[in-house]
Amino acid sequence: MINNFIQQKQKFWEINSEDKVNFQIIYTHSILSQLKIIEELSETDRVFFLVDENIWNLYRNQFELIIQKSIKKIFIKTIRPDEENKNIDSVIEIIKFLDDKSLKRRSEPVIAIGGGVVLDIASFASSIYRRGVPVIKIPTNLLSIVDACVGVKTGINFGLKRNRIGTYYPPQKVLIDKSFLKTCPQRHITNGLGEIFKIALIKSNSLFSQLEAYTDTVGIEEKLCVGALASKIINDSISLMLEELQPNLWEKDLKRCVDFGHSFSPYIELKNRNELLHGEAVTLDCLFSTCLAFNLDLINEQKLFRIYRLAHSLGLPIFHQDFTNKKLFHISLAETKAHRNGNLNLPIPSDIGQYIFINELSDEIIDKAMKLYKSMKDKL
Ligand SMILES: NC(=O)c1ccc[n+]([C@@H]2O[C@H](COP(=O)([O-])OP(=O)(O)OC[C@H]3O[C@@H](n4cnc5c(N)ncnc54)[C@H](O)[C@@H]3O)[C@@H](O)[C@H]2O)c1
Ligand SMILES: [Zn+2]
Repeated sequence: MINNFIQQKQKFWEINSEDKVNFQIIYTHSILSQLKIIEELSETDRVFFLVDENIWNLYRNQFELIIQKSIKKIFIKTIRPDEENKNIDSVIEIIKFLDDKSLKRRSEPVIAIGGGVVLDIASFASSIYRRGVPVIKIPTNLLSIVDACVGVKTGINFGLKRNRIGTYYPPQKVLIDKSFLKTCPQRHITNGLGEIFKIALIKSNSLFSQLEAYTDTVGIEEKLCVGALASKIINDSISLMLEELQPNLWEKDLKRCVDFGHSFSPYIELKNRNELLHGEAVTLDCLFSTCLAFNLDLINEQKLFRIYRLAHSLGLPIFHQDFTNKKLFHISLAETKAHRNGNLNLPIPSDIGQYIFINELSDEIIDKAMKLYKSMKDKL
């Protein structure tokens, strides 16, 4: 059961699954306050940081302060946050770093700090080194705060196949410090908003309205790092993700509504990897699925436009020509089906905040949705 507490003005989530997995996601207020928690969790006089290279460059002064102030000896390894670097060589490098220092396997947790790429590489390495050493995740951009740090999945790419190698491995703790968002490039804020848009559209009318209010009254340039509305949006996104993930941490059930936006997009995202970020590709997939839903009479025209308007005002793309290419769709859907063990299990909205699964998708339905999808970009 997820417990969602407000304690000493600090919000945190306690994840306890039936098979005794237990970890907490906690808000912290600064890197220095994180250090205190980390020092307590490490039972020896050493701490091991695996840090996103960009975070290291941006926060170098603060890390140096940490090194000065800490009562423990701090070892730091930086990691380049590129998808191309999300591979087995990077994992081996991390393992070598830990092994050279003879990391104590139960009492010296690995501290992973960065965006989704670094968290995934570092937690995968931690999950296989000595069959698993504890890892603490510190997400630093919006996508990693609302998505990559929330579940138990770790992974690296295999050639051009995303996350093809990986494990399910719960972290010891997750520490969220929203002030990192100040330095996050605007496009990566928008990228994270893509995943928030997804979970709102499929699961929460209330979160959808909050996003509309945020774009109307605050504006995405404020990067969701301050203000009550921004906090509520981030809290609700995490809670909604956990509501879905926690009862199905090991993905025994492959009918997952959080896969919304991840059905047509994977291959297209990969094909356009220099152009499209993950959250952008997910949004395009959500919009295509919305067109399908409209044609199936699940949502009306007013809602279709409301959904498109929100994506647009969040700075997300609303059209990409590869979403009108049936050949690419078939390649993507074949992969998606294999990933879902032979079933399509396609979540599509049946209203704002609600969904159904469909398992059959004829060429005729796809053609009709592509026609509508093509026309929508000129109608906003
Ligand atoms: N394990 C999971 O459940 C899960 C879920 C979602 C995504 N992911 C993975 O996450 C990856 C995508 O994550 P991403 O979008 O965070 O990419 P990323 O890790 O490449 O981060 C994007 C950019 O943001 C920079 N950045 C991060 N925090 C910053 C800050 N505070 N200030 C300035 N720059 C900052 C990074 O250095 C990087 O350049 C993919 O590989 C995806 O597979 C994993
Ligand atoms: Zn995603």
